[in-house]
Amino acid sequence: MNYAIIGSGKVGSALAHLFTRAGIAVSIANTRGPETIRPLVETLGDTVMAATVEDALDADVIFLAIPFVAVEAFARVRADWRGKIVVDATNAYGVSPEVMAGRLSSDIVAKAVPGASVVKAFNQLPAGVLARDPAQDGGRRVVFVSSNEDEASTTIKGLAEQLGFSPILVGRIDEGGRLLHIPGPLVLHNLVEHPLK
Ligand SMILES: NC(=O)c1ccc[n+]([C@@H]2O[C@H](COP(=O)([O-])OP(=O)(O)OC[C@H]3O[C@@H](n4cnc5c(N)ncnc54)[C@H](OP(=O)(O)O)[C@@H]3O)[C@@H](O)[C@H]2O)c1
Repeated sequence: MNYAIIGSGKVGSALAHLFTRAGIAVSIANTRGPETIRPLVETLGDTVMAATVEDALDADVIFLAIPFVAVEAFARVRADWRGKIVVDATNAYGVSPEVMAGRLSSDIVAKAVPGASVVKAFNQLPAGVLARDPAQDGGRRVVFVSSNEDEASTTIKGLAEQLGFSPILVGRIDEGGRLLHIPGPLVLHNLVEHPLK
């Protein structure tokens, strides 16, 4: 498996910190090109590589850390997303109910990346909290993971564990994923799981 983050803003940078802490290689891209990501990469070290969007899209697992409203246009860079896992870390923040038309944000993302396995995860925490060490007070920070595809859920659960989290699978997008759609009840909770004694 190799990994890429699309977006080098608050969430993209938070994810890059997590990969660095775990020692897992990842590439990161934005609209302005790799040169603009060098300052971030230089502070993080060799695990994070600044890339073009085109090169980043060679990865098996692609984190979307871009504004929700940019997803449809971004996704057109590739006609066929088969074989990719797209981790949707976006939130449809500030998007009008008329535009959403009763749809969940991840359903819109899934339609934009035909053939990909979409996993909703890493969207429920503010970027500043997400960036922190997931180990806290003897426990591990919780991230929720939702997908219509069990294999993709399992893959991202495993990655989240490698990154130091305590992932909780919450089922399909129209079930548990609905709870992760802002302002759903699983959003904006900094939960830390401790081992049962
Ligand atoms: N901020 C939070 O606390 C938080 C928490 C959870 C989820 N989220 C969600 O995470 C997503 C990112 O939020 P953010 O706060 O990180 O935003 P941000 O700081 O504004 O960063 C957005 C990034 O997306 C990049 N981008 C935009 N369109 C792109 C495209 N077509 N191709 C490649 N890169 C593109 C931008 O590139 P440039 O740098 O070149 O402009 C920028 O690096 C949003 O959907 C947001 O709702 C945010």
